[in-house]
Amino acid sequence: MYSKQLLNMEESITLAITAKAKELKAQGKDVLSFSAGEPDFDTPKKVKDAAIKAINDGCSKYTPVAGTNEVLKAVCYKLKQDNNLDYSINEVITGTGAKQNLFNTISALINKDDEVLILAPYWVSYPEIAKYIGAKVKYVYPSNGLKVSASDIQKELSSKTKLLILNNPNNPSGEVYTKDELTQIAKILEGTNVFVISDEMYEKLIYDEEFCAFASLSEDALKRTITINGLSKCAAMPGWRFGYSASKNAKLNKLMKNLQGQCTSNICSITQAAAIPALMGEIDEDIFKMKEEFKKRRDYAFKAINEIKGLAIHSLPKGAFYLFVDCSKISNDDVLFCEKLLEEKLVACVPGSGFGMKGYFRMSYATNMQNIQEGIARIKEFCESN
Ligand SMILES: Cc1ncc(COP(=O)(O)O)c(C=O)c1O
Repeated sequence: MYSKQLLNMEESITLAITAKAKELKAQGKDVLSFSAGEPDFDTPKKVKDAAIKAINDGCSKYTPVAGTNEVLKAVCYKLKQDNNLDYSINEVITGTGAKQNLFNTISALINKDDEVLILAPYWVSYPEIAKYIGAKVKYVYPSNGLKVSASDIQKELSSKTKLLILNNPNNPSGEVYTKDELTQIAKILEGTNVFVISDEMYEKLIYDEEFCAFASLSEDALKRTITINGLSKCAAMPGWRFGYSASKNAKLNKLMKNLQGQCTSNICSITQAAAIPALMGEIDEDIFKMKEEFKKRRDYAFKAINEIKGLAIHSLPKGAFYLFVDCSKISNDDVLFCEKLLEEKLVACVPGSGFGMKGYFRMSYATNMQNIQEGIARIKEFCESN
């Protein structure tokens, strides 16, 4: 009766847990939520001011599907300034959150049964979008630690591989791929027809490592890469819904614009205006302050979690705002572990199986230090009694 493809689509586990935690909170329960994938900081003032100005200036009409010339120029400026990448305004497309750009890109590339390689641990939506579009999803697991190596990928590559999805810095692990590691991955793709989606949403939330954009590695990488980025995480603008894609492939860009034009048209006109100062480097100071705060929390939480018997974070996460905690010594059933933790201690974390890794859970530190301290104390009590 209903679409089989949609019946097979999983609900986003992160959104489901966040909703459950909010529901318990609304019932008056003292819930501490570490499930959210959004910064707890408010949007920087310069962004808000630009939005208010756009509203007062009557920016209320449809814009071109990909975005106004002004916002597209700002995206190109950002890519040049931060990543030394030259794109023209015809090669970038804004989306209603990076999620839409991902959906557009996968839709424009994939035919039924094309193989998509997804590097684990992965962000929850990649497999669901790819499967919905008809792809055969193959996961690549790291043979060592939480980062997939070039040789791990090489083993899974086949003549049917159409696309590889890479997320750097990584959600859920917080791991950052170094330039050297990315170069090795780029090398094994040379001579193949494999496209790469490089999801760089957490680019600016890096604490101890230099960020390297996949497309900037070589001419070959530039040609095969569709860079996905946005402002939800780094500019504390999740509700504004601003994402973008950048690609040198004119045909692909055209197909993505056609799809967006038939589905949603342009993204919110006010959001486009608001994004400009964020893309032009005018909120760098705000980002720096958020980063400093995230780093303090990460350092505290990393140490405190590692002191809990039975839990381990194997290496210090260098980016994003997540800790990916190994709880396999206590329970391999991470779904049950997180359910019980929420029921018994009112602490919400996301089971690792949603990200392709059983025996782990993801804890977001995008919440204040007091909550982190109290939450970890409750997790400790929970682990001691289980
Ligand atoms: C790795 C990654 N990519 C993309 C997104 C989508 O971001 P948005 O649609 O808010 O721009 C998220 C959000 O959680 C994410 O974690």
